[in-house]
Formats: sequence, structure tokens, C-alpha cells
Amino acid sequence: PTEKYTLLRGRVLDFHSRPEGEADTAAYRYIEDGAILMKDGKIKAVGAYCDVAAKATDAAVTDHRPNLLMAGFIDTHVHFPQVQVIASWGSQLLDWLNNYTFPEETRFESPVHCEAMAGHFYDLLLSHGTTTAVSFCSVHTASVDAYFSEAARRNMCMIGGKVMMDRNAPDALTDTPVSGYDNSKALIDKWHGKGRAHYAITPRFAITSTPEQMEMAGALVAEHPECFVQTHLSENHDEIAFTAELYPQAPDYLGVYESYGLLTPKTLLGHSIHLQPREIEVLAETQAKPVFCPTSNLFLGSGLFDDAGLRSKNIQNAIATDIGAGTSYSMLQTLNEGYKVLQLQNQKLHPLQAFHWITRGNAEVLGLADRIGTLEVGTDADIVVLNSRATPAMDLRMQCAETLSEELFVLQMLGDDRAIAETYVAGKAMKHTSGKTALAEG
Ligand code: GUN
Ligand code: ZN
Repeated sequence: PTEKYTLLRGRVLDFHSRPEGEADTAAYRYIEDGAILMKDGKIKAVGAYCDVAAKATDAAVTDHRPNLLMAGFIDTHVHFPQVQVIASWGSQLLDWLNNYTFPEETRFESPVHCEAMAGHFYDLLLSHGTTTAVSFCSVHTASVDAYFSEAARRNMCMIGGKVMMDRNAPDALTDTPVSGYDNSKALIDKWHGKGRAHYAITPRFAITSTPEQMEMAGALVAEHPECFVQTHLSENHDEIAFTAELYPQAPDYLGVYESYGLLTPKTLLGHSIHLQPREIEVLAETQAKPVFCPTSNLFLGSGLFDDAGLRSKNIQNAIATDIGAGTSYSMLQTLNEGYKVLQLQNQKLHPLQAFHWITRGNAEVLGLADRIGTLEVGTDADIVVLNSRATPAMDLRMQCAETLSEELFVLQMLGDDRAIAETYVAGKAMKHTSGKTALAEG
């Protein structure tokens, strides 16, 4: 059964490439009185309102003027089982994991708990304008089932996987090399490619996997080149020192993952802060992707991500929240903190580059720019509606904003979930209804 056409009217912005600045008009498309025509979950036409409206005279029109219509935001590193860990006081990485994170993740042994938390997790993503995320689930297969079931219910493009961890964690939170492999493989068969789901093979990090488990993870990567790989790299100095003790034969931290065959263009490496020159060369060779997590890096006092340094070596990176060490679900607030991390290193982030990063840039890192991250015809209709006057402070500042770049910077520095007027997933408005309600309404 084919649906009716739906037409969204508003100011349309998307990206063709990473802009140098506002004058680089070949890098982006901005339409002042624009429209997006959607049907069956896809974008069917984009352009000036008068042209698009003439093509579909029977379309149901939602007028979002004067708001901005952009591709839904993409969060490339987040921990679904840490929704109740966010804002836990006082530690850096290893203590934070032991004191707060591991105890909380043990609760995901219960499928009922997993399902309840998945509902909250997706409500939070959508209310913050995030339509795709790449998540670590817990060690328990039930957490992955809940994660992908809830995503399917909302028709969301989601990437995730079962954390593999077999040491340096509570017994209730460890698998074994064999069970980690078997359970991951069963979950790949069950979920990868089902609807909009993609599986990520997920050894948590070098500290929590034995060499035997790393070897099994490498076997999975070789057997499933269609899957993503995600882990953590060089976030914190104590973590790096402990990794060197556990893998004395490795030349450096990245060398551990390299030696087990975990580095591919579909590998996402959370943090990647304190890198040696050899590690940077290996990133460039393998095209594994560093992921910048600014709110988390500041919250845990981990360090400053060298965006310009990596870009100068042609290493493409992604940006992400890293909930629950991250402190906001908002990709706008993530850009706010990211801007400041770069300021501390005298690096500049132009607002057009910032919005490219959380849409097309992240989609390109995932190899999914033909489906998400832009408003191109034929792609999935995942769209965010942004109100740059959502709060009194934003409204007052906007009275003096003259350019698109200024407006985007106001959104980036002052915006959060209040600036998200609506979030569309595969053409359906999702911000104000929980996924379950939306499904019941068809
Ligand atoms: N390294 C290993 N696990 C984690 C995690 O859950 N959060 C962060 N920030 N770093 C990690
Ligand atoms: Zn993480």
C-alpha cells in the first residue's frame, strides 16, 4: 500500500562536501523558501517550495517556516546501557568504569530492564534530533535484542553490537572468547541487514579483552566484512599504560588492534586522543576512523582531540556524544564543546563545517552517505527541524544575526533539545510521540 505524499516547507540546508566557509557555496545547498517531498520513507523531491508543491498538488503540507530543515543528526559513539550513568561525579576513566559504569551495566542482564531502557534511550535520541546512532550495548545479548527491536519499531537506521569483554571487569559482566564469538555471530545473523539495522563487532577495549578474545574478534571481522567494528583507543594516560602492560609485545595501543586484524575502513575508534606518530600512520593506511567525543573528553579530563592534525594526514574522523561519559544527548551541545576543545588548540571550527560534521561528515565516515546525512532525492527521509529562536537567550541573540553562519553558530552554542522542533524518521514525525505510540497509530 503506497502512502500519500507529505511535503515539509521551511528553510532547507544540506551539504555536498565539507565547506571552507560561507563563501564556499559549492559545498552546500541552502534554499530560503524550500520544501522536501516525502513518500514511503524516502525523499522524493527537494527544491524551491513553489516548484516542489507544483509537482505534488495533493500532498499533505506541514509548514515549518521559519525553521531550518536539515538531515537528521548522527551520533557515532554512544553507550546505550549508560543512560543512568550520565552525570556520575568525580572520577577519570578507569575509576569511572569500575565505580559507576560496570555496576550499572550488570543490570542489563534483565531483558525487562533492557526493554525499558531502550524505550527511554530512543525517546532521548529523537527529542535531541538524532536519527542514527552507533552504540555499544552491554555484554548481554538481551541488550542487543532490545536495542534493535526498539529501533525497528521506530524504523530507525541504527548500528550497534554486544560488547565483548572477558577480563578486568566484574564476573557478572564478562563473557569468554568462545561465548563472545558465538553470541556475536548469532546476533549478526539475527540483526545485521534486518530493516535498517547494521551490526558492529564490539570488543570493548584492549584492557577488557584477553589476547584469546581479541583473536576471536579478529576472526569475526574477517568472516563478516559487512559489519562495522567499534572499540576505544588512547582516551586516557592510565589506560594507555595499563594496555602496554597487558600487551607488552605491541608497539603501541593501536598496534594491539592492528595485530588482531581489527582495523578496516569500517572500524570506529572512540577518543583516539593521545596518539603516537606510528599510530597516525596506521590510521591513514587502514582508514580506520577516529571518533571525537568532546563532552566526554572534558568530563573525564581525558585530553584534547587533535582534529586539524588528523585532517592534515587525510584521516577522516567522526564526532559523537559518548553518553554516559558524555554529558549531553544533543549533537548541538557536542559541537559546542567540540568548538571549545579546538579553541584550546588554536584550531577553528566554522559553523558550516560543524553542521556538515554531524550530518554528512558522520554519514561518510559510516559509508552511509547514500542513505542518510543529506537531503538528496532517493535517500531516507530522516530530517530534523531546527528552531534557532527556541529560548529567550537564543531569540535575543538572533535579533542581531545577519547570516546563515551566524544563525548556525547560535544553534551550535546555545541549542539543545529545545531547539529541535521536530524529528522525522523515514518520513514520520517522531519527536512528540514515543515510538510505541507512533507504531500503534500506524
Ligand atoms: N573505554 C572502555 N569502555 C568505556 C566506556 O564505557 N566509556 C568510555 N568513555 N571509555 C571507555
Ligand atoms: Zn565509549
